Amino acid sequence: MQEGTSSNPLPASTVKRRDILTLNIDRLAYGGAGVARYQDLVIFVEQALPGQQVQVCISKKKKNFAEARLLAVIKPSPVQRQPVCRHFGPCGGCALQNLSYTAQVEEKTRQVAESLKHLGGFPDVVLEPALGSPEQFFYRNKMEFSFSEYRYVPQEELNLGLMAEPGLFLGLHAKGFYNKVIDLQECHLLAPLSNDLVAAVRRFALASGKTVFNAQTGAGLWRFLVIRHAKHSGEWLVNLVASEYDGELAQRFKHEMVERFPQITSLLFSTTRSRAGVAFSEKEYLLHGRSFIRETIGPLGFNISSNSFFQTNSLQTERLYAVVKEWAAVQAHETVFDLYCGAGTISLTVASQAKRVIGFESVAAAVADARRNALENHIDNCDFVLGDLRDQLDDTAAVTSAWGSVDVMIIDPPRAGMHRKTVQAILRLQPKRIIHVSCNPTSLARDLKLLCEGGYRLGRVKPVDMFPHTTHIEIVAELTR
Ligand SMILES: C[S@@+](CC[C@H](N)C(=O)[O-])C[C@H]1O[C@@H](n2cnc3c(N)ncnc32)[C@H](O)[C@@H]1O
Repeated sequence: MQEGTSSNPLPASTVKRRDILTLNIDRLAYGGAGVARYQDLVIFVEQALPGQQVQVCISKKKKNFAEARLLAVIKPSPVQRQPVCRHFGPCGGCALQNLSYTAQVEEKTRQVAESLKHLGGFPDVVLEPALGSPEQFFYRNKMEFSFSEYRYVPQEELNLGLMAEPGLFLGLHAKGFYNKVIDLQECHLLAPLSNDLVAAVRRFALASGKTVFNAQTGAGLWRFLVIRHAKHSGEWLVNLVASEYDGELAQRFKHEMVERFPQITSLLFSTTRSRAGVAFSEKEYLLHGRSFIRETIGPLGFNISSNSFFQTNSLQTERLYAVVKEWAAVQAHETVFDLYCGAGTISLTVASQAKRVIGFESVAAAVADARRNALENHIDNCDFVLGDLRDQLDDTAAVTSAWGSVDVMIIDPPRAGMHRKTVQAILRLQPKRIIHVSCNPTSLARDLKLLCEGGYRLGRVKPVDMFPHTTHIEIVAELTR
């Protein structure tokens, strides 16, 4: 083991696994690791923050970079904060809670600029000021909690000889563990009542005498708890998801929850037999109220059921869509294609300005939601097309004859970005303007590069923080032909 410090450095070329180094962290990489430069070697340190001086142990060494484990913080960072949540660290929810919110947004903005520069080949792009979330805690409108037979046991407890005994636990998955949950006592993402709801559901499940569903054997009952809270109407949906229906238990659940929580406007007991760890209700039994809650985005109202896709930060979604609408600047004679439209929320947001909007989406339930949302908001110039965009736009002549030629395209792909075939189809369709929304700076950079090589020019780019305390960032980019 050799030790190097900034005052007495080892040559970077000799750095190897298990070396102990002292480093100054100067930024966060995309994904949240701290980044330090040691001579010409870039070193990534998980859980280290910009501005900290840290002692690390090298865990991996490659030609141009290394990874290291944080051993100690020698000097704290001026932008470091005391995390508010007791589960900070092992919980996979809020990785950046110990960094000031201003610094979080600055770091994410820097990551967007770097991705565009290095991966997209846009060295001179000047970003619009990032839009921080109006709420930094309790900003989510939906959370899914998992039941597990195993809980994450903190190191302090292991040191005291406490073992990971199987039982019934309810919470969020511990970082890096697919089968262990943090037996949640508090969470700062969904409004505070959610903590009481989680505790009450856990007590109910424990008292039921039934066990947690085991995906390997298929035995056991309890699987997930889905809670939704509409920011504007204040309505609450609680959905207890089990492997099978038990009428007597469901009635007991209803009595306990409704009596104790008059705020609940939708109470469901659902079942799924799927082995996948996804809180999707295959069959729903409505116990109380109606099966959906009502949320608004701007002037539009949406019915959101347990399974519906809906942006999870309602207040910031309103601001994100306002940017999209302003930049798209759709004229009354123009046709808009909204690619990857989900439940049609962007389509409906721009519909009042457009001649016509066509939304494209591959999930049938989302398309059904989109159609229903259009009807309920009395919007009749939107159509929603179900199918995979990889082949949906292949035949330019057929697309144009079915939907007319497209003037403005709004694109909001999943994290991996667009399939090459979709990019090529967009280039053939030649929209005049494109508003590209993305939740991943790296796939965005790649897609923008392809679009610009195909004849577009990159205009404004604006980061929008939809998920404070996480490493995620949303970006809106404007392209013109
Ligand atoms: C990031 S979400 C955007 C949703 C919507 N624009 C919104 O703001 O709520 C991406 C959407 O793309 C859909 N999707 C993913 N891959 C697709 C594909 N190959 N073809 C069509 N839709 C796809 C997903 O089902 C999801 O609804």
